[in-house]
Amino acid sequence: MEVTVVVNGQEHRREIEPRLLLVHLLRDELGLTGTHWGCDTSNCGACVVWMDEVPVKSCTVLAAMADGRRVRTVEGLAGRGGLDQLQTSFMLCHGLQCGFCTPAMLMTARWLLDRNPDPSDTEVRGAISGLTCRCTGYENIVRSIRHAAQQESLRQELPG
Ligand code: FES
Ligand code: FES
Repeated sequence: MEVTVVVNGQEHRREIEPRLLLVHLLRDELGLTGTHWGCDTSNCGACVVWMDEVPVKSCTVLAAMADGRRVRTVEGLAGRGGLDQLQTSFMLCHGLQCGFCTPAMLMTARWLLDRNPDPSDTEVRGAISGLTCRCTGYENIVRSIRHAAQQESLRQELPG
């Protein structure tokens, strides 16, 4: 079957097997390997991307279900002005070690901050509760997300 998906603003048309998962369309067909694939059980959350502005585990979505939809991956997070604030904050606050969970953490956190610019620790932990990190103990991930929220709110307060 044929699918057309807009990924990070760019339209892609592909002939696919109907059983192909979105995570494999992104990684194997489009070369967007920033989206990770960490389990076969829908548990780890490493594969989170946005579909029509909503975070989804791309290993639980058939590529066919993304036909005609907009998908955003971690490759689409940095803007023309450079890294997204979250990427900078993860760097500054040591929000990653091996980095395997990081793309999904970033996409989930971006979704949270776009809706809740000043989340509490509890709200941050709730947002990332479907994602597994085997390295950090989560403390620095939460700190990174709160740091990004602070920086973005400071920027908003600047005149002009
Ligand atoms: Fe583990 Fe999708 S790859 S939840
Ligand atoms: Fe290694 Fe999260 S940084 S899994």
